[in-house]
Amino acid sequence: MRKEHKEVTTPTIAWENGIVKIIDQRKLPHRLEYIYCRDVKTLWEAIRSLSVRGAPALGVAAAFGVLLGIKNFKGKDKKVFVKYIFEICDYIGSSRPTAVNLFNVLDDMKSVIKNNAQLSVEQLKEKLKKKAFELYELDRKVCRQMGKHGATLIKNGQTFLTICNAGALATVDYGTALGVFYSAKEQKKKFNVYACETRPLLQGARLTAWELLRAKIDTTLICDNMAATLMKQGKIDAIFSGADRIARNGDAANKIGTYNLAVLAKYHKLPFYIVVPLSTFDLNISSGRQIPIEERDPKEVLSFGDCLTALRHTKVYNPAFDVTDHKLITAIITEKGIIYPPFDKNIKKVFKSYACPS
Ligand code: MRU
Repeated sequence: MRKEHKEVTTPTIAWENGIVKIIDQRKLPHRLEYIYCRDVKTLWEAIRSLSVRGAPALGVAAAFGVLLGIKNFKGKDKKVFVKYIFEICDYIGSSRPTAVNLFNVLDDMKSVIKNNAQLSVEQLKEKLKKKAFELYELDRKVCRQMGKHGATLIKNGQTFLTICNAGALATVDYGTALGVFYSAKEQKKKFNVYACETRPLLQGARLTAWELLRAKIDTTLICDNMAATLMKQGKIDAIFSGADRIARNGDAANKIGTYNLAVLAKYHKLPFYIVVPLSTFDLNISSGRQIPIEERDPKEVLSFGDCLTALRHTKVYNPAFDVTDHKLITAIITEKGIIYPPFDKNIKKVFKSYACPS
């Protein structure tokens, strides 16, 4: 299944003998453990609980989820099969609402069925498998391409800030924003990274710091509310972030707190870069106002790790993502190159030249 790509990290997700094997990201950084999903429900729960997370990884998980469904379908009746697969797609899509990669991949899987109406159940199963593996390989390829484009923006001796985890753990094995750092390191550039801890679930502390340290990239962890001070002290040269969904005008949804960084970057006149594959664009929406924002369990805010930090019945607001206005974004780095403003015009141009990969 895997083609030759330079390995810098441990794969986040893999299809092994009919089982989806994923790193259980809830256990990191203390334990590197795996979850073995043998059915769609287990995979749905792994997505919902953030055992597997990050927009591109969610796309691949969705594709493999459909394969789990296929495996358990025994009949030969095509009508029943098609209905069953579409129901599975809807079920997987109900796991998390914001990352559009999940929905783009499910649409791709549905298109395989729609575009091959003449095939038998067995033949459709083969086509769906082929598509899922293609999407898996595509993720590995485009991450490395984004990395190369992004690395052109990195100069020796610079220091960067990142939020959440847009790394190998958010993709199959390389990352978007962190892929830029991996690529720069492969080119022997010398630079430092600050990672925001990213409350409430600490993807920056638990995942980004873990993976950058393993990759031997000089990384310093900060609390989210230290970012402004660092920028004021002249310690940051640019911000690199991932995104979960980008609208036609360039508005970008990402982990809550990303918008704060973009506002701060504007004030301190620092470049703010978003790194995403084309599969993270939602061309059906004209602006970020239409992006559905996931609200999560209040318990995530009421505690820090295992420790309850507020009274159990305290009222909580817990949106998992925010939307950064396109006017605050310096450039969007994709596998097809770096997109600069005006984003509405230039995003359209990129999609005209290249068919969306997923
Ligand atoms: O809630 P999460 O951990 O799934 O949120 C992930 C992010 O916000 C990432 O920054 C985003 O998916 C981009 S990952 C390449």
